[in-house]
Amino acid sequence: MVVSGWLPLNILVLHGPNLNLLGLREPGIYGFTTLAEIDAMLAAEAGSLDLAVVCHQSNHEGELLDLIHAAPKNNQQGILINAGAYTHTSLALRDGLAGVGLPVVEVHLSNLYKRETFRHHSYIAPIAIGQISGFGAESYRLGLQALAHHLGLASPSSSA
Ligand code: DQA
Repeated sequence: MVVSGWLPLNILVLHGPNLNLLGLREPGIYGFTTLAEIDAMLAAEAGSLDLAVVCHQSNHEGELLDLIHAAPKNNQQGILINAGAYTHTSLALRDGLAGVGLPVVEVHLSNLYKRETFRHHSYIAPIAIGQISGFGAESYRLGLQALAHHLGLASPSSSA
């Protein structure tokens, strides 16, 4: 149902470096689901949560920052991010996310804490609402649900 004057919540989904290789990249760690399949799954989940998602992938830190900076102007109310390896290196992404002040949920396909110690530190975690790590592609769906919940949207099953 469309109510005049009502705009759905709009979520920015960001995928960082090398995530364009999903499906081919180390499938023992990241699975066989492609990024296009993840984006389609998020679009379907967004539909059932009555919100909109816009998904971008970039291998460039500056491009990710530009998308973060543009989020308020684009009427985006929250950010779901898998920053890939930039999670562990990028103070700039952390500062950009903190700078725009939108709620952030951090997701990872793999469980960072079962892996190499250099993956145990996230620059983003301290400024995020929370982090979901280790559920494969499902981490993204859980992350979107968590962000929707934070923004005050109950899941359809709980509003019946
Ligand atoms: C990742 C984990 C990171 O350590 C890694 O650099 C990635 C993917 C994940 O989704 O599990 O690129 O963010």
